[in-house]
Amino acid sequence: MAELAWWQSGIIYQIYPRSFQDGNGDGIGDLQGITRRLDHLICLGVDAVWLSPFYQSPMADFGYDIADYCNVDPIFGSLADFDRLREETRQRGLKLILDLVPNHTSDRHPWFEESRASRHNAKRDWYIWRDPAADGGPPNNWRSNFGGSAWEFDEATGQYYYHAFLKEQPDLNWRNPAVREAIYDVMRFWLDRGADGFRVDVIWHLMKDAEFRDNPPNPGFQPGDPEIRRYLEVYSADQPEIHDVIAEMRHVLDGYAERVLIGEIYLPLERLVAYYGADLKGAHLPFNFQLVESPWNARTLARIVEEYERALPAGGWPNWVLGNHDRPRIASRVGQPQARVAAMKLLTLRGTPTLYYGDEIGLEDAEIPPDLVQDPAEKNEPGLGLGRDPQRTPMQWDRSDNAGFTTGKPWLPLSPDWRERNVATLAEDERSLLTLYRRLIALRKATPVLVAGSYVPIEMTKDLFAFERVSEDGRVVVALNLGPEPETVDFGERLAQGRILLSTHLDREGESVTGRLALRADEGVIIAVG
Ligand code: GLC
Repeated sequence: MAELAWWQSGIIYQIYPRSFQDGNGDGIGDLQGITRRLDHLICLGVDAVWLSPFYQSPMADFGYDIADYCNVDPIFGSLADFDRLREETRQRGLKLILDLVPNHTSDRHPWFEESRASRHNAKRDWYIWRDPAADGGPPNNWRSNFGGSAWEFDEATGQYYYHAFLKEQPDLNWRNPAVREAIYDVMRFWLDRGADGFRVDVIWHLMKDAEFRDNPPNPGFQPGDPEIRRYLEVYSADQPEIHDVIAEMRHVLDGYAERVLIGEIYLPLERLVAYYGADLKGAHLPFNFQLVESPWNARTLARIVEEYERALPAGGWPNWVLGNHDRPRIASRVGQPQARVAAMKLLTLRGTPTLYYGDEIGLEDAEIPPDLVQDPAEKNEPGLGLGRDPQRTPMQWDRSDNAGFTTGKPWLPLSPDWRERNVATLAEDERSLLTLYRRLIALRKATPVLVAGSYVPIEMTKDLFAFERVSEDGRVVVALNLGPEPETVDFGERLAQGRILLSTHLDREGESVTGRLALRADEGVIIAVG
């Protein structure tokens, strides 16, 4: 097997900077804070950090509305703090992946301020401006991801501008070559400063239909669904021309050694895999959100892994994501016992795993009282469960005030369990979820077949999900019980002789297996064969 790149063999850890560690007591996490906590990532054993945006921003969407791509927001620190973080990560052998948000800027970005100044401004065409429809209303029926029309009328110039997200996040016009060059310059700025690659925000949104045709109604839309589901996004996203744009981004990246391009893409499988690009010259890793989006049962999980494995283009490297700052946390979705099984699954499937901060301690979605809601997704469409604050609460480090996150008042409340559920407490417990994560990651590193071996499904019944990883380095069986009842499986010849490397309960290493395997409720095991 050819030698793997770091982003193939490594594990990625996402940090949401507002919530990881506050360094200056203002209640909001920052770059200095992250630098202080790097040793946690080393103990955990991850290889790369992806930072959600820390650039200058009015924070309408908490940093995904950027007013200066090449500067650090004072809330998060300064460019010097970034350089220090880069240096400290480098010294520890950690890669640093940055968030690139090219689909839209803040409405306070100087580019947009110029663009909206007049119809004749040189930057008018950097954004998407259209005349009103015949009745004076919006140019078409496209909806915003945060509710309402995606078009905002600008009184001064008599046209509408398009915003797939908040009206404070106008979309850039990616059909304009000057826009492309400007964003490629942003990429070079950070690559020159030592970024190891980018996670590109809503990459499938960059190109829209050249004729701005109406989206067709979604027959599956139900009252209570978020507004964006009212229409199928046939014309407003995932256009064929997007792949040329991504190939260009990739070209910029390929001017530097060993960098990675990751795309945030929520699309059905067959359309997702197109984002590897022709001849694999697209995204290295089109994020695969199937574990985040699918119901948690053995049948579904076995099916999605098989379909994914089958759909991958030749040479396309797989990846799996268990959580992020936009989706409910895994521990809340599946419960604490299954969160352990989820960890084992994430770290034994074939492909690069991405972990979301806090999932390693089983952080749950916190209840946010109405007066403390921050997220525009909740404020704009309240009560539909769209708010993302619950999964963005501060990291819980220890038993000191505010779990060691801040000496000030945290920007979001801590999860009420912080006195028990924190890194310091769980690190002392040799059976904790944190210990399990550390052991799983160490085992993955020490067991090449878990990184590079092929995936071979094993037919199972009831709540069991099992597979093999196979390579010339050896054979490993992973058996996961996704249910609350004990189960015994007969693996027969396939597992005539084996030895347990790790159980999610952390108490069975070394036990030998000869054909039959008894699994407890909510237990997963990794078994070396032979
Ligand atoms: C992505 C981000 C999300 C943000 C949106 C708009 O989906 O992950 O947090 O709100 O893009 O930038």
